[in-house]
Amino acid sequence: MRNIKELAFDKITVAPSLLAADFGELNTEIKRVTDAGADLLHLDVMDGHFVPNLTMGPPLVKSIRKASDLIFDAHLMITDPLKYAPAFIESGADHITFHVELDYDPAEVIKTIKRCGATAGICVKPKTPAETVFPYLDDVEMVLVMTVEPGFGGQSFMADMMPKITLLREEIRRRRLKVHIEVDGGIDGITVETVARAGGNMMVAGTGVFRHPESAAKGIAELHAATKFL
Ligand code: DX5
Ligand code: ZN
Repeated sequence: MRNIKELAFDKITVAPSLLAADFGELNTEIKRVTDAGADLLHLDVMDGHFVPNLTMGPPLVKSIRKASDLIFDAHLMITDPLKYAPAFIESGADHITFHVELDYDPAEVIKTIKRCGATAGICVKPKTPAETVFPYLDDVEMVLVMTVEPGFGGQSFMADMMPKITLLREEIRRRRLKVHIEVDGGIDGITVETVARAGGNMMVAGTGVFRHPESAAKGIAELHAATKFL
């Protein structure tokens, strides 16, 4: 299975963010979260321009692709997704999320992603209203709502983003669409309840999984348990 469309909408799914892993031991770290029950793997791609940090490029994705069967969920925090999305898909990304705040026509980016054979997601930063992605809801498989300013792991969860998630969930329901709402930033066994109640079903967690004080399995299980709040 390599497609987020096949992941449940009525259960919490967990996407550990590789950003919180030990980059010197990537394959071991990926195996650790796979064995712990991860549903997909979140790859935070940063270009030092759209956000003030640098992370990984297509060659790294290609290397880890060989070691994992997980769905690769690439979150592109880059200024030029139209130019680079094809290279990430070619290297093994199954899903590409890009930001709505860019100077591009989102419809064109979505078309390019689909043409290359991946599913598409559209992301809103904390200050971007939910309505900005409404025109594209029929054409994406996921909306990603940021609950921190993008750029770094380990930041505090912004609970005031919950009305935005609820607004999106209502609109997706009203149109009877199958679109995942992924939520990213500061999610752990405690904050997950409010996200699930608001209508988020796919949880990104870096610190909450890779650096869970007990184990990655415990971190993931705590997030899965929030299915009861959906
Ligand atoms: C932030 C990234 C997140 C981040 C989440 O720009 O998009 O995916 O790694 O990390 P935690 O779970 O530690 O907040
Ligand atoms: Zn992310």
